[in-house]
Amino acid sequence: MSCQENRELLKSYREDSKSDTGETKGIPQPPLFKGGTGEVTVLPKEFGDCIKKIDFTEMLTSRRSRREYTSEALTLEEFSFLLWAAQGVKKIPKSGKACFRTVPSAGARHALELYAAVLNIEGLQKGIYHYLAAEHKLEYLGTPEDMENQLAEALCGQKFAVSGACVLMLSAVPERMEWRYGELAAKYILLDAGHACQNVYLASEAIECGCCAMAAYMQERMDAFLGLDAEKENVVVYAAAIGRTDLRS
Ligand SMILES: Cc1cc2nc3c(=O)[nH]c(=O)nc-3n(C[C@H](O)[C@H](O)[C@H](O)COP(=O)(O)O)c2cc1C
Repeated sequence: MSCQENRELLKSYREDSKSDTGETKGIPQPPLFKGGTGEVTVLPKEFGDCIKKIDFTEMLTSRRSRREYTSEALTLEEFSFLLWAAQGVKKIPKSGKACFRTVPSAGARHALELYAAVLNIEGLQKGIYHYLAAEHKLEYLGTPEDMENQLAEALCGQKFAVSGACVLMLSAVPERMEWRYGELAAKYILLDAGHACQNVYLASEAIECGCCAMAAYMQERMDAFLGLDAEKENVVVYAAAIGRTDLRS
């Protein structure tokens, strides 16, 4: 895509360009969550002990992208806190037509799914996991051979990412957003991903860990790494590396 086409694309996301959507046609809305069939780990929901920093101004001031991590593992509570900050569900209204999470989402559609490549988290085996947001549980998807190298290569050779404790990855389930917003869905999905990642940055600061957002990756390789079903859940839209770090560096 040329720069000119890119600009045209940005301009094309106009409220008045929206045509008929699933909602206006009376089509039932797609499921709010992707279920899981793998082996499940219940995640702790008490985070009090792992929160080190609560001064919000200090958190904003100290936040930055950190790419140097120590070999120290994160606790399951810390990891659980990061997942909850990124996509945790706070409320599902009785109507079941929306859900409310720790992050905002256009129309409360929440068209993202959260995955993690676990590298060094206490109590979890190395591997790929899917966050079951509604239940605050973790579904184990498997451990690919040579996982670190596969992931680093998919991340365009950014090896620092696999030297930390985990890499979080957000994928899009477009139909959830399209049902209400039609062709505006792509824009809203990407904006939602930005909100989620900022929560991960701030949550990482709160537990005195380092975080780095990552959008430089090879699309097909990242999608294949997670084994995404291209029909339903088409692409990874964002990633973030997290690890213990020396916050003074
Ligand atoms: C959309 C987006 C994509 C990014 N992708 C990468 C990436 O692939 N690799 C990386 O090392 N940093 C990445 N970053 C981090 C930026 O380089 C970083 O935010 C920027 O240099 C400003 O530094 P700060 O976060 O410390 O304020 C990304 C940041 C954003 C917002």
